[in-house]
Amino acid sequence: MNTLKLTLNPLQKLSHINPEIYGNFSEHLGRCIYGGIYVGENSDIPNIEGYRKDVIDAFRQINLPVLRWPGGCFADEYHWRDGIGEKSSRKKMINTHWGGVVEDNSFGTHEFMRLCELVGCQPYIAGNLGSGTVEELSNWIEYMTFDGVSPLAELRRKNGREQPWKLKYLGIGNENWGCGGNMRPEYYSDLYRRYAVYCRNYSGNDLFKIACGPNADNYTWTETVMKQIGPWNMRGLSLHYYTVPTGNWEHKGSATEFTEQEYYDTIRSTLHMEELVTRHSAIMDRYDPEHKVGLIVDEWGTWYDVEPDTNPGFLYQQNTMRDAIVAAVNLNIFNRHTDRVIMANIAQAVNVLQAILLTEGMKTVKTPTYHIFDLYKQHQDSDLIYSHVENSLAADNVPAISQSASVNPAGDVFLTLSNASLTESYTVDIAAAFSGVNSAEGRILTAEAHAHNTFDEPENVTIQPLSVKTENGRAQVTLPPCSAAAVTLKL
Ligand code: AHR
Repeated sequence: MNTLKLTLNPLQKLSHINPEIYGNFSEHLGRCIYGGIYVGENSDIPNIEGYRKDVIDAFRQINLPVLRWPGGCFADEYHWRDGIGEKSSRKKMINTHWGGVVEDNSFGTHEFMRLCELVGCQPYIAGNLGSGTVEELSNWIEYMTFDGVSPLAELRRKNGREQPWKLKYLGIGNENWGCGGNMRPEYYSDLYRRYAVYCRNYSGNDLFKIACGPNADNYTWTETVMKQIGPWNMRGLSLHYYTVPTGNWEHKGSATEFTEQEYYDTIRSTLHMEELVTRHSAIMDRYDPEHKVGLIVDEWGTWYDVEPDTNPGFLYQQNTMRDAIVAAVNLNIFNRHTDRVIMANIAQAVNVLQAILLTEGMKTVKTPTYHIFDLYKQHQDSDLIYSHVENSLAADNVPAISQSASVNPAGDVFLTLSNASLTESYTVDIAAAFSGVNSAEGRILTAEAHAHNTFDEPENVTIQPLSVKTENGRAQVTLPPCSAAAVTLKL
């Protein structure tokens, strides 16, 4: 048995873990919104005001802090006026990006804001800079947030919402280096400055404006945007990075059938997030030493070939224990970088890419990735503390263990760990500097790497209790191959 030493220092608080690190993303793509979240009030599927009850309950259980909408690429073609007013007279249009299907706009601003109210999460709206106008985005903000007398506030009231909503997070464009207009960073920066001026704070609302950031390792984009905009009228910069096991977008590989080599390639590809976050943060440090601008990883997760016999434009994929390890590793990375990373949104919430939930008719499945969000939720709103593990290599130069630790206001230490090895168990011997461990309890998610939950067997992969040994002021846990665990320590 391999034993690895892990040291914590609960007195060394490094940064605050914003709950928003545990955010999700929901796009008008495939069956994410329609069928996945929203089924309409007349559906036989149990619903609250048209939202799937099982999905709302599942979001609440993980304390979902923030939900991004309406895209993605869809956002830069979305015209908000199409999605308000009487549903029967809303425009039907083609969803050009995603499968060419009819978008009937029955889920629009009111429906999204109500969803967030029901879930108890922050709305994060991505505005249309790619194909919209300054006036259109400015009007949308006024429509949602203005309390006074104006034609747009009156229109909102006429559409059934008397009080304005509070909207904090506003993205100004999405992937404007690609699907959002194929722009150069210089041009985008100028446009951002212009749009940002007209996105006003009405009636005590305080917009947290987020600029489109880089695709993966496009450091030039970050450099240029930080130089041109900097902390001026911008509080967040986004980063998108997807884990593609083969590195080949034409043949990404199957979600459920993969070799050992592909498994380790996936983990290596996901570990690249650490370098991306570190290097983009270093550029941001030069233009924003006071950390006024947060890095927002608002699209991350695995991207495989779609499931056989599904619409290629719907990006529907299964989700295995491999995805759980990917989620565990990434969330540990984000926690450890919360001096700069203030939000992250996995792509996507339901039925798309690395979904936390899958639905089919009446049935809903919580994926292994969902269980990681459940396992890690105690980090939300805690303080990151120093932790270090004497690591070991799993295979192919992939480190076995990933970890992060936090302390909550009550002084309890919360540690999350993952073991990426497919063959080795590790006993982790945990010591806390300046204090002994009095008691500890744990939970674990573990299964063979291909294991997944299906509509017929939804409980194949679920969280189990983990036995934690405490002795001589130290704690010991054993992590089986392909596992992720959470340990709460009382010192
Ligand atoms: O999440 C799917 C797509 O990936 C999003 O629409 C886009 O922003 C990204 O390229």
